[in-house]
Amino acid sequence: MTSMRSDGVSDRERHTQIAAAARLLRAGGVVAFPTETVYGLGADAANPEAVRKIFEIKGRPSDHPLIVHIADASLLDRWAREIPQAARHLAESFWPSPLTLILRRQRHVPDAVTGGQDTVGLRVPDHPVALALLQELGPEKALAAPSANRFGRISPTTAAHVRAELDEAVDMVLDGGPCRVGLESTIISFVGGTPLLLRPGGISVAALEAVLGGRIEAPDTAQSAVRVSGSLPSHYAPVTPLEVLSAESLKRRSRELVKREQRVAVLGLTSPCQDSPHLLHFQMPAAAAAYAHKLYATLRQLDGVRFDFILAEAPPVDVDWQAVNDRLRRAAIVYCPAEIQPQEKMYEEIS
Ligand code: TXA
Ligand code: MG
Repeated sequence: MTSMRSDGVSDRERHTQIAAAARLLRAGGVVAFPTETVYGLGADAANPEAVRKIFEIKGRPSDHPLIVHIADASLLDRWAREIPQAARHLAESFWPSPLTLILRRQRHVPDAVTGGQDTVGLRVPDHPVALALLQELGPEKALAAPSANRFGRISPTTAAHVRAELDEAVDMVLDGGPCRVGLESTIISFVGGTPLLLRPGGISVAALEAVLGGRIEAPDTAQSAVRVSGSLPSHYAPVTPLEVLSAESLKRRSRELVKREQRVAVLGLTSPCQDSPHLLHFQMPAAAAAYAHKLYATLRQLDGVRFDFILAEAPPVDVDWQAVNDRLRRAAIVYCPAEIQPQEKMYEEIS
C-alpha cells in the first residue's frame, strides 16, 4: 500500500515525479520545483546550455547571476573557494534554510550561472521535494535556479502560479504545494572583508547576527525613505500599480480615487476601509511572517481581477518587517510609509 501525503500525492507518485524530473534535468531540461521560499526554475548547474534556457524562458539579462541550490553544507567546497570561517559557520548552523551565501566560486562553475563574476550564490533549500530532487540527481550535482517567474514579475508561491506564467516553456513543474515562507531567501555576501546584506528575506538578519556574534552590514539602510519609481521598470512588481501609504494617507488617496471611479483594492493592516462598488478591502495578517506568506499570492490574485490601483497600508518599519518592506518598496510605484503626505508632485511624476 502506498501512503498518502497531506497534499494528496502518494509517496510512490512523488518518487515517480522526482525521478522523471531528474531524468529531464540530466538531459539538459528545465524543471520548476518548490522551495520553502518561492518556486525555482532549475537546470543542471554544470550544464551551461541548460542554464541558458532559464534566461530565455525568464527573459532575464544574461549577466544576472543565478543561485546554485545544493543538497547540504558539506558540498560548500565543491562550489566555493576561500570560504571565510564565518560563512561556513552560518551554513552549518542554518542550512537547509532561506539563506543564500555569496562566496568566491570554484573555477568550474560556469559563467552562464555566475553572470561571468568570480562569485557564486549558494543555498540549501528547506523543502522536502527540492531536497529529494537534489538527492536523486546525486552528490556531484546542483540546481542553478532563479525564481520561476518572468523577469521583473512577482515570484510564484504555488505550482499553479508557475503554470499560469510559464506554462509550455518549461519541461516539467513539480508541485510541492504552497511555499511556507512566501518570499525569497536572505542573501549575505562574504566576498568583501565583512558580511554584507544584499537582500533581506526569509531568515532575519538578527537571527544570523546572533549566531555570527557580529554585525552584518546593510548597504541600503534607507528602508523607510519615500520612493517614487515613475515609469522605471521595477522588480517584483504586480501589473496593477501599487502604492504603499500610511493609514491616514491611504484613506485620503482611496477616497480621491473612488471619487474618480477608479477600482481600488486595499491591503489593510489596522483599520479597514469601507467596501464600496469601487473599493475592496483585504485584511492582511498583523504578523510579519504571515503577511510575507500571503503577499505575493495576494498581489497575483488582485492582478487577475484587474483593479486600477492597489493601495497597501505600510507595515511598521522594524526588523521583523524588513523583508516585507523591501519587497513592497520594490513593487510599488509610490512607497511612502511614514506619516508624510504624498505630494501632488509625486503623482505627476508617474505617467
Ligand atoms: O529564495 C530564493 O532565493 C529563490 C529560490 C528559488 O531559491 N531564488 C531567487 O532567485 O530568488 P533569483 O534569481 O530570483 O534572485 C537571486 C538573487 C538575484 O538578485 C541575484 O542577482 C543574486 O541573487 N545573486 C545570485 N548570485 C549572485 C552572486 N554571485 N553575486 C551577487 N548576487 C547574486
Ligand atoms: Mg527573482
